[in-house]
Amino acid sequence: MKKRLVFLTGYSYKYLFRPLLFLTDSESIHNFFIRFGQALGNEYSGGIFKFFFCHPQKELEQQLFGINFRNPVGLAAGFDYGASLMWVLPGLNFGFETIGTITNMPYEGNPKPRLGRLVKTRSLMVNKGFKNEGIKKIVEKLKGQNFVFPVGISIGKTNSAKLRTQGAAVEDIVSAFEVVEKEKLDIGFYELNISCPNLYGKIEFYEPEHLSGLLQAVFALKPSKPVFIKMPISKDNEEIIKMMDVIVKYPVKAVILGNLQKDRNNSSFVREELEKFPAGSFSGLPTRARSNELIKLIYKRYGQKIKIIGCGGIFCGKDAYDKIRAGASLVQLITGLIFEGPQLASQINYELEDLLKKDGFDNITQAIGANVN
Ligand SMILES: Cc1cc2nc3c(=O)[nH]c(=O)nc-3n(C[C@H](O)[C@H](O)[C@H](O)COP(=O)(O)O)c2cc1C
Repeated sequence: MKKRLVFLTGYSYKYLFRPLLFLTDSESIHNFFIRFGQALGNEYSGGIFKFFFCHPQKELEQQLFGINFRNPVGLAAGFDYGASLMWVLPGLNFGFETIGTITNMPYEGNPKPRLGRLVKTRSLMVNKGFKNEGIKKIVEKLKGQNFVFPVGISIGKTNSAKLRTQGAAVEDIVSAFEVVEKEKLDIGFYELNISCPNLYGKIEFYEPEHLSGLLQAVFALKPSKPVFIKMPISKDNEEIIKMMDVIVKYPVKAVILGNLQKDRNNSSFVREELEKFPAGSFSGLPTRARSNELIKLIYKRYGQKIKIIGCGGIFCGKDAYDKIRAGASLVQLITGLIFEGPQLASQINYELEDLLKKDGFDNITQAIGANVN
């Protein structure tokens, strides 16, 4: 009965609500949903959502890095920039969420349009450049709260033309970590975002030397929570392996594969949609194949040393399961939520339960990397 209701919510969203929502510009709708989600995130509506969207699923539970993940489906960085959804998402059966990306100093965002939809491609154009209120404001909001699921903070470099050198960028990132560390927040993990494609200047952390410099400075702080790294997908295998060879030398607990698609030649694009957006990077379907490829590659070479979080183009349980079978222990999404509806995490968890059973697995951990030999 509950399961049917979840799937019915999906159909209603897709065929009734979505066509109306998609008539309005993407950023206004996003802001509306954040305010709506924040308003709904209280103990009463939380309980109602939980009743409809959640049920115990022992086979999906995992203990990783000392954190209990009730299920593997998380909200990726880029949706909840203002730390507003920590109370509504558990009721929708998300297993965890990442706030941010947040930077040391605030940034008002790149010039509009910063967000766009490619409906036929099943993708979003993103050119926000880390629009956020700055780490101090976010920490103020999170202070004193005890969360009911793992909440992480994604940290990146402040998007400012003033940060002209690698050294200044490292200092800026370390300062943001310091602000969080001072406050003993009830957060579960950090994401270090080294892969935002829409920032000022030529500073980057892809070269092994630069990456090593950053990791050395971050781990010198001895962060009190596990650190994950958000990886690019637009680098070739050789470049990714060079980065991984550095990453595994540090106590990084997981890599997230990965961020947005920069390559406009990706075969998933419907050309006339792409041409509407001369700037920006892309989420959803154009990220999926490369994300899966990289998960497999990294699992095969580094699976014994580091965990993988799969992210990119998940619209249903099968998409999540493909990433798990390729080597991901957890998955994250944004675009699927916008295209498929608020029931998506719950729906994916039901579908994962069925897929595991069909393959004869008692627990999700048995499926991780099952496609890699
Ligand atoms: C609107 C939007 C904003 C994003 N902003 C961030 C960000 O601030 N930090 C980050 O690490 N990733 C960001 N991303 C990338 C997502 O976290 C994710 O890696 C990517 O969208 C692929 O997942 P998806 O296909 O499920 O959306 C953003 C994505 C979208 C759609």
